[in-house]
Amino acid sequence: MDAAVDIFYRKVLGDARISSFFDDIDMERQAAKQKAFLTMVMGGPAHYTGRDMRTSHARLVKSGLNDSHVDAVIELLAATLKELGVADSDIAEVGALANSVRNDVLSR
Ligand code: HEM
Repeated sequence: MDAAVDIFYRKVLGDARISSFFDDIDMERQAAKQKAFLTMVMGGPAHYTGRDMRTSHARLVKSGLNDSHVDAVIELLAATLKELGVADSDIAEVGALANSVRNDVLSR
């Protein structure tokens, strides 16, 4: 899990499509966010409620967070798992889980 957090973290912060959303988040919170994100998508939606996802991303939606950004995050997540040798079928499952909170993340 630590390897996944590390790779995913670098990908997210290095991706010009989405990195600006993390600009004013301090490093500790960023790392905690990545861990919480991965725990959620690997462990299942029971760990977080839709309301949590709405609340924690509401400010970002006001700053323009949209489907293209969610697509980018899911793409980077898949690339991370691929690098770690995770099977395509499992990657697809994780992607579907991340996708299942899309409407909550985007406040709709
Ligand atoms: C695809 C589904 C997503 C999931 C499952 C997810 C998951 C999470 C989780 C678990 C947290 C921590 C909530 C907390 O403890 O308060 C969080 C916060 C955050 N997420 Fe996401 N996220 C998703 C999409 C995105 C996207 C697309 C972006 C931006 C490109 C993003 C940027 C952030 C930021 C910046 C925070 C910290 C907000 C703050 O502290 O003010 N997330 N996310």
